[in-house]
Amino acid sequence: MSNTYEYIEVSIESSIGIVKLNRPKVLNAINRPMVTEIVTVLEDFDRNDEVKVMVLAGNGRAFAAGADIDEMAEATAIELELLNQFTEWDRLAWVKKPIIGAVQGFALGGGFELALCCDILFAAHDAEFGFPEISLGVMPGAGGTQRLTKLMGKSKAMEWLLTGDRMSAKEALHYGVINRVIPKELLIEETMRFAKKIAKQPPLSLRLIKESVHKAVDYSVYEGMQYERKNFYLLFASNDQKEGMRAFKEKRKPKFEGD
Ligand code: HXC
Repeated sequence: MSNTYEYIEVSIESSIGIVKLNRPKVLNAINRPMVTEIVTVLEDFDRNDEVKVMVLAGNGRAFAAGADIDEMAEATAIELELLNQFTEWDRLAWVKKPIIGAVQGFALGGGFELALCCDILFAAHDAEFGFPEISLGVMPGAGGTQRLTKLMGKSKAMEWLLTGDRMSAKEALHYGVINRVIPKELLIEETMRFAKKIAKQPPLSLRLIKESVHKAVDYSVYEGMQYERKNFYLLFASNDQKEGMRAFKEKRKPKFEGD
């Protein structure tokens, strides 16, 4: 697959769509065109039958050290309002296939927010997460206050957001922010191994489970249950449900086709 993007590297390997942030000289600082590239590719992957699961990672010594400060420094409030840049970020939440983040080095500010848009997060031992925006006189703007609070609860999130301190991979694991800590040299290999395992699951179940879990975060239990139920029923319209249950009865491995 040829790479036609300026700020990211894109490839597909064994049913896994891979996006690597690629501005290593500035620790993958996220400028606006980079966000557009990321979301465009993830949406393309979402519609591409060849891709079952996506992986998001960073080239060099960081996942991403935040939104590009050079791009923001002189902005006015009115310019930002008119630019409405966060609609691009919002599109990330509509991606249906699972996204696995592989974080090495810094995941700060917008970089941490991008990591929090992933469904599963693996991190290298050297990973550091944080919201240093407060030391720049601002605050997170792409979901950081909301998503971190949902993950770790109000008191803990408040502490990290108000201090701007950096959280080690071990701490992030402890607080349930990430799924696994992995030796740096194995991060991509282990992430890919996990992605390939998930990629073998029936694709419709993957997307409807992902959607239902997100509803659990955003909705009340009652509303989320209505969503879960509808998705459960919907899967009975799929051939993969017939195949999965038939294979169980016939004591053989199912062959899922994604329809
Ligand atoms: C632009 C950045 C950058 C950023 C690093 N660089 N982070 N450029 N925006 N967010 C650049 C540096 O200017 C430097 O460029 C090069 O990357 C290497 O960084 P160093 O600082 O020399 O590396 P080091 O000493 O190892 O320090 C690493 C660091 C530090 C601790 C991560 O770079 C840092 O504090 N970065 C800013 C982190 C931050 O505040 N992030 C939040 C941004 S606000 P040169 O040209 O000098 O070599 C934000 C708001 C989100 O994210 C809002 C929603 C989108």
